[in-house]
Amino acid sequence: MDASIAILPGDGVGPEVISESIKVLDAVASKFKHNFNLTIGDIGGCAIDKYGTALPDITLEKCSNSDAILMGAVGGPKWDNPSNKIRPEDGLLKIRKSLKLFANIRPVKVYPSLINATPIKPEILKNVDILVIRELTGGLYFGKPKKRWDTSKGRRGVDTLKYSEHEIRRILKLAFELSGSRRKKLTSVDKQNVLETSRLWREIAIEMSSQYPEVELDHMLVDNAAMQLIRNPSDFDVIVSENTFGDILTDETAVLSGSMGMLPSASLSEASSSSGSGMGLFEPIHGSAPDISGQGIANPIGSILSTAMMLRLSFNLNDEALAIEKAVEGILEDGYRTADISMGSQANADTSKIGDLISGAI
Ligand code: IPM
Ligand code: MG
Repeated sequence: MDASIAILPGDGVGPEVISESIKVLDAVASKFKHNFNLTIGDIGGCAIDKYGTALPDITLEKCSNSDAILMGAVGGPKWDNPSNKIRPEDGLLKIRKSLKLFANIRPVKVYPSLINATPIKPEILKNVDILVIRELTGGLYFGKPKKRWDTSKGRRGVDTLKYSEHEIRRILKLAFELSGSRRKKLTSVDKQNVLETSRLWREIAIEMSSQYPEVELDHMLVDNAAMQLIRNPSDFDVIVSENTFGDILTDETAVLSGSMGMLPSASLSEASSSSGSGMGLFEPIHGSAPDISGQGIANPIGSILSTAMMLRLSFNLNDEALAIEKAVEGILEDGYRTADISMGSQANADTSKIGDLISGAI
């Protein structure tokens, strides 16, 4: 097939992990006879330096004209001053909102060969296979008013947690559907003992559940969910939650798989989540990791697995996605480790070696 992909390397380790994903894409293209046209665009801090904005129109245009977007990471200490008017993260939030990427899908898998890389007891990690579905274009991230101001009694700030029925329904619909194709257990995470938006969320989830009798729906308060995810992670199948809760819980679930560097994600629009066509953005869940950037030691597996998700979800290339996922499993079983998953011993592979090994195995 012919497909055009917008590549947004971003900041920090973003460009380093994206280079390895491109290697892997090249290997897939030549093995399976596809033609991927790549266009590079700026987002985040590097875009602020070049254009004075975290998401220049030219980048957005490149993305809109592509079939999918592969992104690295944004942010870094250079742009981190809280008094800055423009932040790298604004670019990411703007692209999610502009392209209506309301559904963020974060699969959490435990690789048997990495069980010792986690601080969790091995018996707790048995049979862990979780899909977290995070609402991505609503809630605290986008609600207005959102501002800071000075008063005679000191400084004030406000963020607004807001959800419409439409926003809640469309993310829950996807969650019910995806649960139906898995172990049919959906946990809706909220804070209904305190938050009005959560009470609305839970009410709608209960209403919708009658249309999905095969899916067992349960509800969990977010604080309890944070605990259960570490205590009984294998009890979960699909988790659905609002934006901020999903952001926090997915960093926690990364611990189950050994490292933030392991987890991929897909952000989908209404069209792409229902039909496999339409825009999707694929990125590892780790950030720009300024502490290790520029050293060539970042783990590119989260980005490479995001590439596999792109092939599967945006292009329906399931065999190609599986080939990448098997290659990742293979090199982990062979014992190759970047520092984040080397369990306190010496890492035996850097970023580019992992990319070479995975693309070589395809
Ligand atoms: C994520 C990140 C982003 C978020 C940041 C970089 C804005 O933490 O994708 O999880 O909070 O959504
Ligand atoms: Mg996050």
